[in-house]
Amino acid sequence: MSTAAPSPRALRSDAVAGLSGELRVPGDKSISHRSLMLGALAVGETVVRGLLEGEDVLATAAAMRQLGAEVVREDHAGEAVWRVWGRGIGGLTEPADVLDMGNSGTSARLLMGLLATHPMTSVMTGDASLRRRPMKRVTEPLSRFGAEFWSREGGRLPLAVKGTGEAVPVTYETPVASAQVKSAVLLAGLNAPGETTVIETTATRDHTERMLGHFGASLTVEPHGPTGRRVTLVGQPELRAAPVVVPGDPSSAAFPVVAALITGDSHLILRNVGTNPLRFGLYETLKEMGADIILLNERVEGGEPVADLEIRSTGLTGIDVPADRAASMIDEFPILAVAAACASGTTRMNGLGELRVKESDRLTAMAEGLAACGATVTVEGDDLIVEGTGEPPRGGATIAVNLDHRIAMSFLVLGMVTREPVAVDDASAIDTSFPGFARLMNDLGARIRPLTETAAP
Ligand code: S3P
Repeated sequence: MSTAAPSPRALRSDAVAGLSGELRVPGDKSISHRSLMLGALAVGETVVRGLLEGEDVLATAAAMRQLGAEVVREDHAGEAVWRVWGRGIGGLTEPADVLDMGNSGTSARLLMGLLATHPMTSVMTGDASLRRRPMKRVTEPLSRFGAEFWSREGGRLPLAVKGTGEAVPVTYETPVASAQVKSAVLLAGLNAPGETTVIETTATRDHTERMLGHFGASLTVEPHGPTGRRVTLVGQPELRAAPVVVPGDPSSAAFPVVAALITGDSHLILRNVGTNPLRFGLYETLKEMGADIILLNERVEGGEPVADLEIRSTGLTGIDVPADRAASMIDEFPILAVAAACASGTTRMNGLGELRVKESDRLTAMAEGLAACGATVTVEGDDLIVEGTGEPPRGGATIAVNLDHRIAMSFLVLGMVTREPVAVDDASAIDTSFPGFARLMNDLGARIRPLTETAAP
């Protein structure tokens, strides 16, 4: 491993015998964003408990304030409670300054939906990662409502949007499986008269639909083809403020779950994890690979299914992950690739084209990072193939994170089992979705520490 003047934000992870204990992961990122946005459009006071206080969601909170909503955080005996006083549908006001969405694609794309059908002009930007990500996938359907967008060549941030006060409702079939695109169109449709319809050939996470129903909107969801859905929203409803309890994020839970599965003698209980079937593809996949994952206390809270997860370490066997499962685990492929590198046999992950346009090009990042750690990995078109030997790879590399939280966390998990430590060059992006990740993992038995610190015996 390189020892040349590492950044103070670089972390290393050393091998451990196992992880044990009980934990709660931070709130669901997708649900947190939506609770602030719908709270800002509802009439009355929306109280949100369990909100993810990661940088991405804080960017949404700041933007909703800039658009005229009142958003406050209170501390109730150590529990954070967020209150949002909404402006009513169509009631957002023109922001005086640029909306900076930081690293968050969800904030940027969903907010563009809201801005598209408010008669005002806004300018949006983001960090270097977000400024590289494609935005035409939302500006194209949002233009159909009557909004106008200006950006540089390629349709990336920064961009300006001139929303329309005379929106026409839209019927739109999404060309990519994307909950962000679906949600942007539905949110724009909130301030368009008549029915807005989104058709998706593969169903994606349905938190927007569930929460719209929870806030009193009238919408119907019907099957479309073998794996798709047709969602129709009646525009200009009166959204009523409603309490939101945010479950733990299954995408964040994935890191301690895989860490426990691959480290020797582990036993974890994760309390209160969201189990929405459209988010649960990783868990289905790990079970097919032989993982010991038990769902306890299955229940429904605030319109979302939730359970406690009990995990014991197990040997994993490689499988083929079908392309039509990708949408239900789109954020989990980096950590699945780590699990696959520690499994016996070949894991083939099919249909991962969308991974190239996430916070970084995750297909390349995982292929190159795992190879640098000694694993055998190939990319064939949009498929990632990892050859497991039944033993963890060697490790001993420093991985470039490129502002991608999930790449950072995935490689820190890998370091928990490799012979040589694994480091990441800049772990600060982890705060976008999982503040306190290293501390929480260390409390369970991991050894993650600044790369600048010398190794403990
Ligand atoms: C999200 C949808 C997914 C996911 C992202 C959150 C959401 O993006 O990758 O982390 O909250 O709607 P796409 O819809 O672009 O696949």
